[in-house]
Amino acid sequence: MTPLRLLALDTAAVPATDAGGVARVRALARRARCRGVLLGPSWPTTAQAAAMRRAGLVLAAQRTPEELAQSGALAVVAELAASGPLLLVVAGGRSRDTLRRALEGLARLRAPTLRLALVSVPVCHRGDTRGDVGVEVVAHRSARAWLAGVAEVAWAAQCDACGVRAACAGPVAEAAVAPQPAPVSNQFDLVLAREPSPGEVALSSAEAARCAWIATPSGGALARCDNAGWTDADLHLVLDQLGQLWLDTSDKARLDDFAADLRPLIQDAPARELPTGGVAPARWRPTTGDPFAVEEAYVEAALIAMRGTVVDIGAGPVRYLRLLAGRIASGEVRYAAVEPDTPALRRSGDALPGARLARGVGEHLPVRDAVADHVLMLRSFNHLRDVAAAFAEASRVAADGASLLVVDNVAFGLVRTSAQIDRARAVSVLETPFEHYRNANADAAVAAIEATGCWRVTEVRAVAPGRANQWTVRARRRPREPG
Ligand SMILES: C[S@@+](CC[C@H](N)C(=O)[O-])C[C@H]1O[C@@H](n2cnc3c(N)ncnc32)[C@H](O)[C@@H]1O
Repeated sequence: MTPLRLLALDTAAVPATDAGGVARVRALARRARCRGVLLGPSWPTTAQAAAMRRAGLVLAAQRTPEELAQSGALAVVAELAASGPLLLVVAGGRSRDTLRRALEGLARLRAPTLRLALVSVPVCHRGDTRGDVGVEVVAHRSARAWLAGVAEVAWAAQCDACGVRAACAGPVAEAAVAPQPAPVSNQFDLVLAREPSPGEVALSSAEAARCAWIATPSGGALARCDNAGWTDADLHLVLDQLGQLWLDTSDKARLDDFAADLRPLIQDAPARELPTGGVAPARWRPTTGDPFAVEEAYVEAALIAMRGTVVDIGAGPVRYLRLLAGRIASGEVRYAAVEPDTPALRRSGDALPGARLARGVGEHLPVRDAVADHVLMLRSFNHLRDVAAAFAEASRVAADGASLLVVDNVAFGLVRTSAQIDRARAVSVLETPFEHYRNANADAAVAAIEATGCWRVTEVRAVAPGRANQWTVRARRRPREPG
């Protein structure tokens, strides 16, 4: 039974009438590659149910057997099922008898639109009831609390009348709850103080670790990281070891051209103890130059040299369109883009006649075996949910001797005024398509590539102070073993 993938959401977070809100839920489900939504812990209203069905989503609601035994619960199921298809996920529970009674009660409803799935029900409690549908649940952050509750009541110590003396076989296997990885930002802000401050500001060592003194034309000002989500160790790595601090010079809510919107900052002096007591934060000064251009020129040169079939994983709005269009038109390059975000894919398609565009993810490439002469993973590595699966797929589609080009970014800090920060934070996270799950460096990519055993790493460009926050790893596909 192929499990049906459902996105678990808190019912309270699901709109009934707001069309924009419904569209957002639909987009969230699509991004998580889910065909439906699993709502809990409270029942959806009929209006919420209708909105989800109109959005083309399978409507699923979750209850424990104990909750189904409460008065009125079966009437709600009957009402929801009367208005359209309903998948009821019966999850967890404390006793085999209650489960049996709940299932009998549901059977008596004789609702043709009702389907059943069993989640976190131990094998011995299932009896003859297998459920109609196997589900795989992806937990949205709004649902983590109640799903954790389901997991807690799930068995082990609670089992009654179990004759099995060996280890418990546990909950039904196909109903595993896969937590959605938590999205990670790749940027933190250092808020620039309005008032100037002398170069030798004395701070406590804890404060100094989260501050930078920025030289400005009028002297200098202190900038302070106000985001507790970034630890002192994170800041130390990004600022002191990798040197990735930039001055935001734009008035955009969302930066889209780093070379134009940012000025590089160079660390002049690290944080140091002052003879008079206290610690002076690290000192930084703006510089000229465009470290991004250097890295981009490198990537472009690699792309220009490519001939044959190129598979671009997470192509997005195809940044190198200008460079590729002519080569695709002339037949020098057969270009196949794989991208989960449909609008991005459509925009690329309009501008690239002759390209093959497929909706898909790196973890399941809609591409035949051993056809690619070049595999690109340009800034999509940090977006992958399952890095190992994606590199297994890259290895499968690559022909013997094919090249692999992986480019991505480490995190960076931005020095901004509070007005710039307010503008940026007004952009809803729901408007950010396809979350970013890590801030990996080149070493992480090398490890993932080498773990496949299929590639030989040929070049690594790591991030360092004075360079952009972009790294590159290149590799060559080892020949397949005969047979
Ligand atoms: C930062 S954009 C990079 C786009 C383009 N390759 C570039 O270099 O500008 C990341 C892209 O990865 C895509 N993406 C997200 N999850 C993905 C996945 N699991 N597999 C492949 N691509 C994914 C996103 O939709 C987005 O278009």
